[in-house]
Amino acid sequence: MKNDQHLRWWQRGVIYQIYPRSFKDTTGNGVGDLPGIIEKLDYLSDGTGNSLGIDAIWLSPIYPSPMADFGYDVADYCDVNPLFGDLATFDQLVAEAHRRGIRIILDYVPNHSSDQHPWFIESRRSRDNPRRDWYIWRDPRPDGSPPNNWGSAFGGPAWTWDEATGQYYLHQFLKEQPELNWRQPEVRAAMMDMLRFWMERGVDGFRIDVVSLLIKDAELRDNPPNPNADPTLPPNDISGRQWPVYNRDQDQVHEIIRDFRRLLDEYDDRCAIGELSLELPRWIRYYGQNGDGLHLPFNFRLMGLPWQAQAVRRSVDELEAALPPFAWPNYVLGNHDRARLASRLGSQAQARLAAMMLLTLRGTPTLYYGDELGMENGVIPPEKLQDPPGLRLGKEHSRDVCRTPMQWDDSPNAGFSTAEPWLPVSGDYATRNVTIQSADPTSMLNLYRRLLWYRRGSPALFGGCYQPLDAGDNCFVYLRAAGDERRLVALNFADGQRRVSVPGEGAGRIVISTHLDREESVSPSGFELRPHEGVIVEL
Ligand code: NOJ
Repeated sequence: MKNDQHLRWWQRGVIYQIYPRSFKDTTGNGVGDLPGIIEKLDYLSDGTGNSLGIDAIWLSPIYPSPMADFGYDVADYCDVNPLFGDLATFDQLVAEAHRRGIRIILDYVPNHSSDQHPWFIESRRSRDNPRRDWYIWRDPRPDGSPPNNWGSAFGGPAWTWDEATGQYYLHQFLKEQPELNWRQPEVRAAMMDMLRFWMERGVDGFRIDVVSLLIKDAELRDNPPNPNADPTLPPNDISGRQWPVYNRDQDQVHEIIRDFRRLLDEYDDRCAIGELSLELPRWIRYYGQNGDGLHLPFNFRLMGLPWQAQAVRRSVDELEAALPPFAWPNYVLGNHDRARLASRLGSQAQARLAAMMLLTLRGTPTLYYGDELGMENGVIPPEKLQDPPGLRLGKEHSRDVCRTPMQWDDSPNAGFSTAEPWLPVSGDYATRNVTIQSADPTSMLNLYRRLLWYRRGSPALFGGCYQPLDAGDNCFVYLRAAGDERRLVALNFADGQRRVSVPGEGAGRIVISTHLDREESVSPSGFELRPHEGVIVEL
């Protein structure tokens, strides 16, 4: 992209994911809420380098929900859960965020509703209910077993028997999350109306949950077994033992995505992000054939790799090579479904390196709340486990560890709440929190702030081209450039010192080191990086 004038907000900006239950509680019930987010907007961006400096917040679901899957079981797509606030508070959040130049992205959960959604309550009432086919109901097989062999991602079969009407319904997550039938035109129309509803309220974009699941095989055929399945999977992990051939990524899903896009394009500058994990050639199709698909199919690829410079570079280069010209890259290193970044990488030093990489690669970064402090996996005592996969598949599957309350200060409950939080605050909160890190010039938080604000002022970083360079062993080095502006990023993944050598460059100046302790002239043809150090060099 040569001309940054042409970049849209979701291309040049940085997205910050908030898990609303865990961000800031203002009502004293131990669960975060919308007024809490409003209170912390200045932390996210007040227009100065004292704030984090993000451009958009993505809120995990805020809708009315029985919370079987903590909001990913929606009982009303057009309202706000009273736990979090109400529509008026939401409108206030939009206005306050927009006033600061922060966009609002909502989580949209179209694959399944809650079993408490009025549509499902009607649907399960009788076989001839007008909403029966809004969900996916099937007769049992002759032996009474479920219609096919699909498993739920949270353990057990993907079908639940309904005694009253004598059929099974499909749910690839909890039985409290029945799947909507997107082959039903009325369902499509109703679900499109939900998007309209929120866009009319000023929402700038949607993160679409499990988008590749929306359409299943028309005949609901059995998935083949996966011969490479991990033999140590828990016995009830049926889906983990199958190839997901028929339950996801069916060609017709792209029609629906084009419909989403057409609708979003009726409004000014809205953004469609999709949650999906597929091999690169299948994943890339979600941008659409001519850019008429998702703006940003989330790219989770880096989260599954060994943290090693060559592996990371290969993944980035493969993506860059595969993207058609209309497609904009993006990178995700943490979210509410994965272990915390700092815990995954095993050290704060590596997490600092990851921050520099995420904020300097070509494409839109998505940050996960708390990663800017280097928050680590929480320790959740067995009696406090909340997450359904943790309870059903074993505690190592629990996502509670990455959902612990945001650590604001060293007061009780980390300044998150005056009540006992819904998940325990992480043990390190007294030393790892926003207040302490704000006062420490070399903290992780101040590294994020420096990187975010530097990126914002650098067309090479937010919009320039990307060119990888061969450099030191276990180092990932690349050039970012736009017009005359050229920035070298050199990341040392190794435990030891490394010498980086980039031939053919004149003088350079390090402007940010991940250690936040050096700004100096260097010769790109040969300079040292300390263990786990990354630098941005102005050329
Ligand atoms: C993906 C979401 O990220 C996850 O948290 C949720 O449990 C499932 N989709 C089901 O909605």
